[in-house]
Amino acid sequence: MKLPKTFDLPRFPWDTLAEVTALAQAHPDGAVDLTIGSPADSVAAPTQQALAESADAHGYPPAVGAPELREAIVEFMRETRGVDGLAPDDVVLTIGSKELVASLAFQLGIGAGDALGFPEVAYPTYEVGAILAGAKALRLPEDPKSWPGRPAKKGQGEMLGETGRKPQMESPKLWPTGESGRDVGAAMDSLPEGFIKDVDEKHEGRSTSAHSSPIPRLVWLNSPGNPNGHAYSVAELREAVAWARANRAILVADECYALLDWEGAPRGTGFGTPSLLDESVTDGNLEGLLVTHSLSKQNNLAGYRAAWICGDPELVAGLREVRKHWGLMVPGPVQAATRVALADVETPRRQKEIYRTRREKLMAACEAAGLEIDSQSVAGLYLWVKAGENGLSSGYAGGQTLAAALPSVVTPQRSDPPAAPGRSDPPAAPGLSATPGRELARWFAERGIRVAPGDFYGPAGAEYVRISLTAQDEDIDKACKRLA
Ligand SMILES: Cc1ncc(COP(=O)(O)O)c(C=O)c1O
Repeated sequence: MKLPKTFDLPRFPWDTLAEVTALAQAHPDGAVDLTIGSPADSVAAPTQQALAESADAHGYPPAVGAPELREAIVEFMRETRGVDGLAPDDVVLTIGSKELVASLAFQLGIGAGDALGFPEVAYPTYEVGAILAGAKALRLPEDPKSWPGRPAKKGQGEMLGETGRKPQMESPKLWPTGESGRDVGAAMDSLPEGFIKDVDEKHEGRSTSAHSSPIPRLVWLNSPGNPNGHAYSVAELREAVAWARANRAILVADECYALLDWEGAPRGTGFGTPSLLDESVTDGNLEGLLVTHSLSKQNNLAGYRAAWICGDPELVAGLREVRKHWGLMVPGPVQAATRVALADVETPRRQKEIYRTRREKLMAACEAAGLEIDSQSVAGLYLWVKAGENGLSSGYAGGQTLAAALPSVVTPQRSDPPAAPGRSDPPAAPGLSATPGRELARWFAERGIRVAPGDFYGPAGAEYVRISLTAQDEDIDKACKRLA
């Protein structure tokens, strides 16, 4: 039967890796998989025990989260992330954070006629969230001063001092649809041509000018960022907040890698990279600001689906209602285990040291092989690398050979699904187009190592590959040897 509606989703990136996977698997000693950031180390024993002890979960769990768990989250946010002023009601559990990233815009009432912003190089699910909500997806540069809309004239601290009162935040559902209520024109006129890429058109290789880019109603920050490990400082977060307040936009920070901060990473009041809700960013005003935090990476709980969103009480209250009606519940045993995991400060610390060692080994091996690691990559679970200027140590000169050297990369794979009925052929999917990053991924695959081509994360990532630190030590050592 024909689907009543097909979403114009991008091709699922991992489905485009069949060829490099086969190549990596052909290595006599098997493939080392450094693609997905799926933790390879064990869940702490007390957390496993809490899960097992709650196995007789015959009743429905509290949809937004048990009150004592939400209290534990408030304490975690205060003690670990430097966030004051949250109440348990300002927290809602989510089933991991990916479902939230994909559905938040919809749950907040953002849709057709609205725009949703996210980083130029980003976790693909932000774009998916815009598409599912029917909103326009906008890739934004990192610097909030370059975002479309009314410029924030001063840092947000001065703004508050100047007016003496909090800027008024409207509920998204009360906003008029389209751009009618928003003074776009004048602000847009001062912006440089073509600085913002419009995802709707990216498949056709075009980008819109700033003049036709609407002001996003919601902007996702991801600090530290997947895939590039860039992290916002307190001053930069304040810029983003000032922009959001000047433009009556919602700002949401995805902070799932926050506790994995390396040398050179910016600091806030708490541990890890600064939170958007850090007192030194918000000046105590949470209006329009949300943070999502996940235990998938820091506590190896990806299989449990343990995460939450917290922040602006009014926005969170709206989410609670939607999520209760929707039945989006974290299972009771996972809620019990999450509480135990939150009380365990040692596991994230130990895990961080494990990742530090893996990171240092892989960095040294990559550099010795002639790869260049993004110098702003100061946090998170990935290395963001491209071929160095002098080419690689063996077999690859970096960027200039492409299709001629690798005809199979540009040949459609047999496993490609046919176009959905009623749709025209899918636009050039990343798996079918050669980029320096795809070529580099192939170079790794020839050495029995699977990495993710950078175009998975947006056209601006095309030169890069992402290397995950989540394999076990034995596999990291194998990968380093194969790079030598
Ligand atoms: C930036 C970012 N956000 C969210 C997620 C989703 O994590 P989870 O659903 O396990 O909480 C990931 C997973 O890799 C991610 O990289």
